[in-house]
Amino acid sequence: MALEISLEDVSLVYNRGTHLELKALEGVSVTFRNDESVLLLGHTGSGKSTLLKVISQLLRPSEGRVLINGRECSEPKIFMKKIGICFQFPEDQFLCETVFDEIAFASRNFNLDQIESRVMKAIEAVGLDETYLDKSPFSLSQGEARKVALASVIAHEPDLLLLDEPFIALDYQGKHVIRSFVRSWIQQRHGLILVSHSLDHTIDLVNRVIVLESGKIVYDGSVENFIFENAAQRSKLQSEVVEIWYQLLKLGEKPSSLEDLIQKAADRIIV
Ligand SMILES: Nc1ncnc2c1ncn2[C@@H]1O[C@H](COP(=O)(O)OP(=O)(O)OP(=O)(O)O)[C@@H](O)[C@H]1O
Ligand SMILES: [Mg+2]
Repeated sequence: MALEISLEDVSLVYNRGTHLELKALEGVSVTFRNDESVLLLGHTGSGKSTLLKVISQLLRPSEGRVLINGRECSEPKIFMKKIGICFQFPEDQFLCETVFDEIAFASRNFNLDQIESRVMKAIEAVGLDETYLDKSPFSLSQGEARKVALASVIAHEPDLLLLDEPFIALDYQGKHVIRSFVRSWIQQRHGLILVSHSLDHTIDLVNRVIVLESGKIVYDGSVENFIFENAAQRSKLQSEVVEIWYQLLKLGEKPSSLEDLIQKAADRIIV
């Protein structure tokens, strides 16, 4: 089902009226739909995680409005069933004593059926096996915890997935599994909003980039436009991946994935 989330002139102030007052978002107007994959990019402290929480209705804006399909959200439970949000720090979202219960939590909360098969499907999608199911989510390594957190937000089959820094603390194999999962998620025409401070693992997963600086949106457009026509933003990333992608675009080549980027770059090397 179509899902459109619009922010209208949203500002978010933490600790308003105290000496710790801080404006984390300012004048943000943007729309997200569940048929696109979007990267929220920005330096540390630029407001990415705050924006993700506002989009998912976990934080109420200090000013401005958030509209769901053109209306203010009157039934939060129905909205929450449509989304799955994975926090930057997985332990912040764990509530249960076992991994099984953690992954089953949202599905049970929404009174869905086939809980066990949902859990098994979710755990397989993130590259874990059933030996994890009886463990405490709080006893896991950072990489394992990140995978369990992801499994716990996909088991109820939301329309839109919001992932905050999903690649942190994962080894090469872990990144590969999550990238494959995200790719098939997008191919099934589900929505994605992915937060990262880097394009390195995300450049081929998204079709729209939004750049935040000090709580304001300073760029919103296609990945290709971002790389090709935005020299100032591109150089701020200091990324070899982005630089090689740019050089290939200049040569008229369009890499379709990171793997294709490597192949195309290798083909250009003259020994
Ligand atoms: N709960 C909070 N209370 C007070 N200030 C906060 C809170 N959460 C975030 N901030 C502040 O708001 C600003 C934006 O924080 P946010 O976590 O959204 O940034 P970010 O872009 O996600 O950063 P990072 O890349 O480090 O995760 C920062 O200055 C941060 O210190
Ligand atoms: Mg963050």
